[in-house]
Amino acid sequence: MSNRHTIHLKPVNKVLEVDHGTPLQDVLFVHGVEFPCGGRKRCTGCKIKVLRGAFPVTPEQEELLSEKELTAGWRLACCGNVIDDLEIELAQWEASVLTDNSSFPFKPKAGYGIAVDIGTTTIVAQLLDLSNGTVIAVNTALNKQAQYGADIMERINYAISAHGKTNLGALLRDQIESLLTELIETTEISVDHINTIVLAGNTVMQHFFCDFDLAPLSHVPFEPVESAYGVTELSPVEPGWRHRDETSITFLPSLGGFVGSDILAGIIATGMHKRTKYSCLVDLGTNGEIVIGNKNRLLCASTAAGPAFEGARISMGMRAVTGAIASVEKINGAYKCTIIGGGAPRGICGSGLVDAVSVGLDLGFINSSGRFDDKRNSWELLAPVSLTQQDIRELQLAKGAIAAGITILLNALHITIDDIAQVHLAGAFGNYINRESARNIGLLPFPVDKILSSGNTSLLGAKRALFMEEYNEIQSIQKITRHIPLSTNPAFMEIFSQEMLFPER
Ligand code: FES
Repeated sequence: MSNRHTIHLKPVNKVLEVDHGTPLQDVLFVHGVEFPCGGRKRCTGCKIKVLRGAFPVTPEQEELLSEKELTAGWRLACCGNVIDDLEIELAQWEASVLTDNSSFPFKPKAGYGIAVDIGTTTIVAQLLDLSNGTVIAVNTALNKQAQYGADIMERINYAISAHGKTNLGALLRDQIESLLTELIETTEISVDHINTIVLAGNTVMQHFFCDFDLAPLSHVPFEPVESAYGVTELSPVEPGWRHRDETSITFLPSLGGFVGSDILAGIIATGMHKRTKYSCLVDLGTNGEIVIGNKNRLLCASTAAGPAFEGARISMGMRAVTGAIASVEKINGAYKCTIIGGGAPRGICGSGLVDAVSVGLDLGFINSSGRFDDKRNSWELLAPVSLTQQDIRELQLAKGAIAAGITILLNALHITIDDIAQVHLAGAFGNYINRESARNIGLLPFPVDKILSSGNTSLLGAKRALFMEEYNEIQSIQKITRHIPLSTNPAFMEIFSQEMLFPER
């Protein structure tokens, strides 16, 4: 028996060599495969198809996968070790990471700076020449913490539970240091010329990075520790980085429970805190964050939208990668699906799901309560991809949570949809979603011409912060911003159940 095995990964045609007995999860994770439940054998999100070689079926796989799936070669990557040469196909692959190329006004200063956006799934860093604002290099990675859970609550639970052996904060700090080292090494610039590093991320990433106590984020009212509301300035010694002592490392502050510095950076990026007219910033993800207001007052909230927008917990859901139905268009009483990569469909991603339900509503297949109108149990969009009643329910939960958050903030400001002059959609999903469909299903109840896809506003805001001499602008934003906790809001449940309905045709 050989002590080494080859693993051929398809469709990207990568060949890896690993030791006999290596957990397949460890091998695949570093190649961008996500393990949504942290490998706890609960979610089936790590499904792979074994095309060649032995990867035995375990009782957990028998429980989670159907007989048909097992016979077809489907397995769960978190359920076994490499004991044979394998050829496998992945259900998910290489999500593109959203960076930023926008130009923005700035006051030049000497030296170089690095802006970092730490997402739950991805991390992006850009190196800038601060004398002219040019982005010199970009580096991206999947957040290594994802192997301990796809969403922030899984990570918090892992970190504070007795069996969470890996220090996820140290893991994050080490990964970012490696990412920055690689970033600097792709240029001619010496690490000694990096003067400033600004980091932005959600509240949980901030707590991990800055080594704050995570326990308060694990239960109602999900309040960050007091220090999370301040600008955290670190010397390179604190995260254990090999930068010279003079390099300033700053983590931008949070605005409230689960409204982190990624959203504060989004406010800086969009400039909504300087406008007289009202604007809205929406970051759609497992956790949806919403900010509404103007230069006098900003209200923000976070709402648990669930994973539907990311294609998770959808029967044939997948990330926006090759083989995903990414859009569905209504054409002359029928519809047409577009598949990423143009080949055969393998599943549906979040943008395709929003489109499909929008088209289903228009064609009368789905009614405003979310039910199939003709008693069918599922709708075959494009074989073998179907949408089930439960899939539509998952989308209703997600869209209901976001729309309820928007309604509660509008009510608290005593304004209506008509008072909003601009809506900024932040993040990767916001970049790909069809705005007409989002409006059609009642997710974003704004006129389409007011909705702008604003890209990675967290990274853009962190870049703008690199040029700040002091953080007065940030303090002014904090002064006019109030966090509205939705989990304890008495009106939330009623508004949420109304918002779960789709608009009447
Ligand atoms: S079953 Fe959830 S990651 Fe494998």
